[in-house]
Amino acid sequence: NDEQFKNVISHAKEYGFVFQSSEIYDGLSAVYDYGQLGAELKNNIKTYWWKAMVQMHENIVGIDSAIFMHPKIWKASGHVDGFNDPMIDNKDSKKRYRADQLLEDRIEKYRKDGKTDKAEDLQTAMDDALKAEDLPQLKSLIEAHDIACPVSGTKNWTDVRQFNLMFSTQFGAMSEDAEVVYLRPETAQGIFVNFLNVQKSGRMKIPFGIAQIGKAFRNEVIARQFIMRMREFEQMEMQFFVRPGEDGKWFEYWKEARLKWHQALGTDPARYRFHDHVKLAHYANAATDIEFEFPFGFKEVEGIHSRTDFDLGQHQEFSGKKMQYFDSELNEEGKPYGNYVPYVIETSIGLDRMFLLTLINAFEEQDLSTEDKQDSRTVLRLHPALAPVKAAILPLTKKDGLPEKARAIMDTLKFDHNLIYEEKDSIGKRYRRQDAIGTPFCITIDHQSLEDDSVTIRHRDSMEQERVAIADLERIIGNKVSW
Ligand code: GAP
Repeated sequence: NDEQFKNVISHAKEYGFVFQSSEIYDGLSAVYDYGQLGAELKNNIKTYWWKAMVQMHENIVGIDSAIFMHPKIWKASGHVDGFNDPMIDNKDSKKRYRADQLLEDRIEKYRKDGKTDKAEDLQTAMDDALKAEDLPQLKSLIEAHDIACPVSGTKNWTDVRQFNLMFSTQFGAMSEDAEVVYLRPETAQGIFVNFLNVQKSGRMKIPFGIAQIGKAFRNEVIARQFIMRMREFEQMEMQFFVRPGEDGKWFEYWKEARLKWHQALGTDPARYRFHDHVKLAHYANAATDIEFEFPFGFKEVEGIHSRTDFDLGQHQEFSGKKMQYFDSELNEEGKPYGNYVPYVIETSIGLDRMFLLTLINAFEEQDLSTEDKQDSRTVLRLHPALAPVKAAILPLTKKDGLPEKARAIMDTLKFDHNLIYEEKDSIGKRYRRQDAIGTPFCITIDHQSLEDDSVTIRHRDSMEQERVAIADLERIIGNKVSW
């Protein structure tokens, strides 16, 4: 599994999906750039989410709020005081770790070694300590379980301290009157503070949702597992506003709806699971993670949180502006529900984690050897709607008018689909290259094409080829790559 994960990472770099940020300066920890194919794949994932959430729901609209927001917002949301990770430093290696991560690694090890009771005990003790924010107790657990620094191998630890994950910067040109602002650690607050703007201007009626896709920033103590935990990342979030008392019902609804969204991509259902939270965040009365089985174990991709009226209530208090909705619909007694601060169900998925999941799920190294010949290929079996390139246009040779014919086909298809034109190398090599980037169709133009306006179309997964009329290409590709 480690091997496969390493191969996915190097494949992502080799073919222009993901690069280490600032690589020629030896990189910047936990920051990554998306390359030419990565940007396409990422856009396609965003489109799939936006269509499913906004376009397919009459009562959900999308916004794009600014990254900079009034600093009081983060006071109101609880992030200034409470958005912390417990960290600990090793005095010899000078390396910093998340105390809970060190303990979780140890729990994982106990489980692997079959010491289930020990794993359970430590898990409970750690959860209790985290819930009570008992930092000395976290340190005691690290010592009691004899945990050493993975770098220095020593157990010379500092005390456990809280470390706020928000990045801050100066707003305004003059240092005297500059204000400290934060880079948002979640996109959700941009939705909450616009709740009434959208509700009024869009004449939205409860229940309704506001969705957004955008960057978020967290000064993570540890950077691990490629693009799983980044300092700059992207979220796709939706806040669904409901009547108080109907939050439980909608929480269940969104849990199921979001799992269906994942599974509609054809991923093996056994690789997904829910993980209900025992330790709830300060704003939630119920929360679950959708976890995916990565090569390094089941890990969270998306969170579904029942956030109560916490956020709107806090903003009402801190801004002094009413964050209420007037519900004119009649209840059982024939009276309007009246004014209330709505309850919120949130769905929050990390775009980068979804990207990684998609790559890992699609990546396959196939042995195609026969009795007389050794052969293999690497193929990305991406859902055609997510594939960065939909079709490759390949003239069999560089002469006899084949490139011109190929270009003419390209010109009719390129308005609707992202295509690649390639005339270099043997046709076999060109097919392999397209397999490696997940292109569902290769269209080969040969001499017969000049005579009868037909081409061969090769299918990525089956590697089968069929002869089709050029006039049918639009329909064949369109059918397969549409949502
Ligand atoms: N608004 C709720 C919220 O932000 P979260 O569980 O902290 O909840 C939601 O984050 C999702 O964002 C996670 O499920 C994960 O996919 C993604 N995410 C969070 N931190 C991340 C990081 N440092 N790097 C990449 N993705 C991250």
